[in-house]
Amino acid sequence: MKTKNQKLLSWVDEIARLCKPDAIHWCDGSRAEYDSLFKAMVAAGAATPLEKRPNSFLFRSDPSDVARVEDRTYIASKTQAEAGPTNNWIDPVELKKTMAGLYDGCMKGRTLYVIPFSMGPVGSPIAKIGVEITDSPYVVVNMHIMTRVGDKVIETLGDDGEFIPCLHSVGAPLEPGQTDVPWPCAPMEKKYIAHFPEENLIWSYGSGYGGNALLGKKCLALRIASNMARHEGWMAEHMLILRLTNPEGKRFHIAAAFPSACGKTNLAMLQPTLPGWKCECVGDDIAWMKIRPDGRLHAINPEAGFFGVAPGTSYETNPMAMDSIRENSIFTNCVLTDDSDVWWEDMNVECKHGIDWKGRDWTPGQKDADGKPIKGAHPNARFTAPAAQCPVICPDWEDPDGVPIDIFVFGGRRTKLVPLVTQAFDWDHGVYMGATAASEATAAALDVKKAIRRDPMAMLPFCGYHIGDYWQHWFDMGDRLGEKAPQIFYVNWFRKSPDGQWLWPGFGENSRVLKWMCERLEGKADGVETPVGIVPKAGELDVSGLEISNAEIAELLRIDEEGWKSEVPEIEEFLNKAGDRLPARMKNQLAELKKRVGLG
Ligand code: OXD
Ligand code: MN
Repeated sequence: MKTKNQKLLSWVDEIARLCKPDAIHWCDGSRAEYDSLFKAMVAAGAATPLEKRPNSFLFRSDPSDVARVEDRTYIASKTQAEAGPTNNWIDPVELKKTMAGLYDGCMKGRTLYVIPFSMGPVGSPIAKIGVEITDSPYVVVNMHIMTRVGDKVIETLGDDGEFIPCLHSVGAPLEPGQTDVPWPCAPMEKKYIAHFPEENLIWSYGSGYGGNALLGKKCLALRIASNMARHEGWMAEHMLILRLTNPEGKRFHIAAAFPSACGKTNLAMLQPTLPGWKCECVGDDIAWMKIRPDGRLHAINPEAGFFGVAPGTSYETNPMAMDSIRENSIFTNCVLTDDSDVWWEDMNVECKHGIDWKGRDWTPGQKDADGKPIKGAHPNARFTAPAAQCPVICPDWEDPDGVPIDIFVFGGRRTKLVPLVTQAFDWDHGVYMGATAASEATAAALDVKKAIRRDPMAMLPFCGYHIGDYWQHWFDMGDRLGEKAPQIFYVNWFRKSPDGQWLWPGFGENSRVLKWMCERLEGKADGVETPVGIVPKAGELDVSGLEISNAEIAELLRIDEEGWKSEVPEIEEFLNKAGDRLPARMKNQLAELKKRVGLG
């Protein structure tokens, strides 16, 4: 379908003149388009079809292009103050000049694809339209799965509808006659993932991987959307969404924020071990939430697929994800097995031999020159799969009105200090808990140097404006929601005993913790107040059928007051980075915590 949207036509024209592609292709989102792109990528040696998984393919990225590049990600607002202390900033005029220089002729020898996409069910009052221009067919096929692409979007956009322009190039023009490499990209110093929040514009250059290149995801649905959301009075959060139904049939909708590598996709697809409880997945990564006419906060999943971390995913840890990726899926940086399937570390199936993510002959247990085992899959290897293929996808996952959120959960990976679960005393305390969330290292970002990183609301790399203003937006939303605001909890599935043993079995057993949350909402559980929040009273956490001693539960829920005391100065230092934009209500929370732990 040809668009008559003048803004879109002139933008495509302007970009084509700058990037100088050999051809332009308007994507219609059809199966035929998907198939023909794969045919060409297989012929070119960029994709390998997998005989064991119908209509599925493996890609190997360039070894330098394997994750989000936070050091090269910019929020180019007019002033640095607007981007705040947690974002890299370059003056937008200067950055555009640099990047326009890079974009000049960058698509020579390539096709420019125009991808009209909707984040969220097409036409939903919470959804937004984006258009990505890219020279990567890998990006096109991934966008087909991760977003809603095609003619329906062009139709909804109409002649004068608004869209978010997202420009992407791998940054590897081809000279006449030059043969392409399987994974074109630019060197690190030429990679830029740039956001221009005042214009709702995204420019990405030099990387073909994940969030750097599939611009609907982190760039649009989080960085640009978070900024739009604060101006328009809604929320764009790095949260999974799930529906939990108790044995009486009562539904609870939960939105949960975790940094990468905390089992977010596992929780999104959790299968409760508790009899009679049911869990269905609405989304595994991002939630867009608006206050609807009933006064409640309703969430949609703006995405249409899962872009999940493969290593660690198995029938033991996440059977629903494993079933979601049996067909029609894309794999990146996994092992190719001798029988034409994919494999990764901790998949819990045997692989005797294969080709590793770098394309080398590989046998499990193989060591490098220093005697270190060589991993077959990259730790950030990914699968891309249609959400509709998830056996426990919620029947209402595409409801344009979203699902009403009852519970917010924050969390992180902490082997010490943080109890299994705590409920916030009230909204403000919950915002404080989210703001000070912290986790131990991850593979999804290349450049994380600290052992423990504070990751407010799991939004540190994704908040598209000043973090202090973001926290204030949370407080404001609480005021608007009043009594109808979700209850806020904090979880840590990863606590270890003093002798280094995991204390909590995790995975499906996490339903026990979710059950306690629901019981708190229903007034069926009392909880006990501690200096850091409300934890389950002895006997309240349903551990029936689990081999866990009372002493272990007590340890899981223990408040280490000395430990919290010693963490306070670092928390304070972290919050103070927001400078004069640190909300008074956040300062108040810190002051209250100090008092409760006997510091003030
Ligand atoms: C992701 C992430 O979802 O890094 O890829 O958060
Ligand atoms: Mn994520």
